[in-house]
Amino acid sequence: MLDLLVRSARVAGAADGGSGAETVDVHVRGETIVAVVPSSGEPPDAAEVVDARGCLLSPPFVEPHVHLDTVLTAGEPRWNDSGTLWEGIACWAERKPMLDHEDVVARAGEVLRWYVANGVLHVRSHVDVTDPGLVALGALVELRERVRDVLDLQLVAFPQEGICSFPRGAELLEEAARRGVDVVGAIPHYEDTREDGVRSLEIAVDVARRHDLLVDVHCDEIDDEQSRFVEVLATHAMRTGLRDRVTASHTTAMGSYNPAYSYKLRRTLSRSGVNVVCNPLVNLHLQGRFDGYPKRRGLTQVKELLDAGVNVAFGHDDVMDPWNPLGTADPVLVAHVGAHATQMMSPAEVAQCFQMVTDRAARALGITGSYGVRAGSPANFLLLAAQDAFDVVRRLVRPSVVVSRGRIVAERDPAAARLRWPGRDVEDVDFVRDRDAAGATWRAGPSVRSEGDRER
Ligand code: FE2
Repeated sequence: MLDLLVRSARVAGAADGGSGAETVDVHVRGETIVAVVPSSGEPPDAAEVVDARGCLLSPPFVEPHVHLDTVLTAGEPRWNDSGTLWEGIACWAERKPMLDHEDVVARAGEVLRWYVANGVLHVRSHVDVTDPGLVALGALVELRERVRDVLDLQLVAFPQEGICSFPRGAELLEEAARRGVDVVGAIPHYEDTREDGVRSLEIAVDVARRHDLLVDVHCDEIDDEQSRFVEVLATHAMRTGLRDRVTASHTTAMGSYNPAYSYKLRRTLSRSGVNVVCNPLVNLHLQGRFDGYPKRRGLTQVKELLDAGVNVAFGHDDVMDPWNPLGTADPVLVAHVGAHATQMMSPAEVAQCFQMVTDRAARALGITGSYGVRAGSPANFLLLAAQDAFDVVRRLVRPSVVVSRGRIVAERDPAAARLRWPGRDVEDVDFVRDRDAAGATWRAGPSVRSEGDRER
């Protein structure tokens, strides 16, 4: 007897892009997928049965870059009127002394609920460690344990106000490593001098190596074409052997580099094995603020980096805080905006934007060994009432069912608008472009039946 049986799902990422008619059943026992088999023949009994009705089966969404310590603080104590990164940091420096343990746990916990409802089961969160009390770090270390039954949370020791330019910055980073972060960060473009920026990367990489941690640096998040710390970070990744254990986040200055330097840099990044995380929502909003017209987009070179073989992922970055007053922790919106902002709009490129909030983000977090819908993997997956990955991104389709550790942890009805056109019958509009075989059943969404339950 299985604990959970999912019938008749189509596989996202299949050779046909997830649009084929072939369906699979997923067998779950305890917290593990024990089999993924073609949907034919009599299935085994199960305590809970989900009839996917042809919905798309996908591994969970992955958030490679958020700041959970700052979420839901927009306007406290004041709004970031200029919309610059710099005023955001100043607002946060005023909010930081008001932090206490429960404040952080409550706000971060609320946004993690949003993430799970949106199908995100792996989150990497930066946490500001330029706080002599390390209040937020203590709160998020505790929260990481509290949520472990549903989602995996990685914590990055993020020195928001610098390592060399903040009093005891290096000591605080070391202390954060001792207190159990998973990843070490830096912010070289914010340090007082270029030399401090270079030194800050040496310190961060050294801390990571001594504590056997990953590295994720806020790198060159500025519209200054002279900000070139990512070449330093990539070279550390190469020469230390850390390689894909290193991530360069933001790298927005790449949006301003000249073609000759861009070519050289992409070669360095490709050889180094580092991951790059682009945060399209936040950097479209923060960058270009000092420009007249023409005003730069201020995003990294996503398409070109992918072409050079670099692993690139999309992150949300901020949710209702001094750097982004909007947000619902929704990776599908990030992929949708990312597709527009990076001009990745061919069918294959839009599908790649879906990969950047799933598989590619999982690679950046270093979790590919346990990520994916296959026998032997943890039973973490989604059902999406969509035709394929392109359709998910185009229509902003959110998961109908979210399964974590073998249990259904979130459900959502596929939304439809009802049209009452004068003189016509009332009809639903779901914005589907009908390229499916006639009679496609996935539009209705999955149905769930537990032992002793009526179908719902
Ligand atoms: Fe960030």
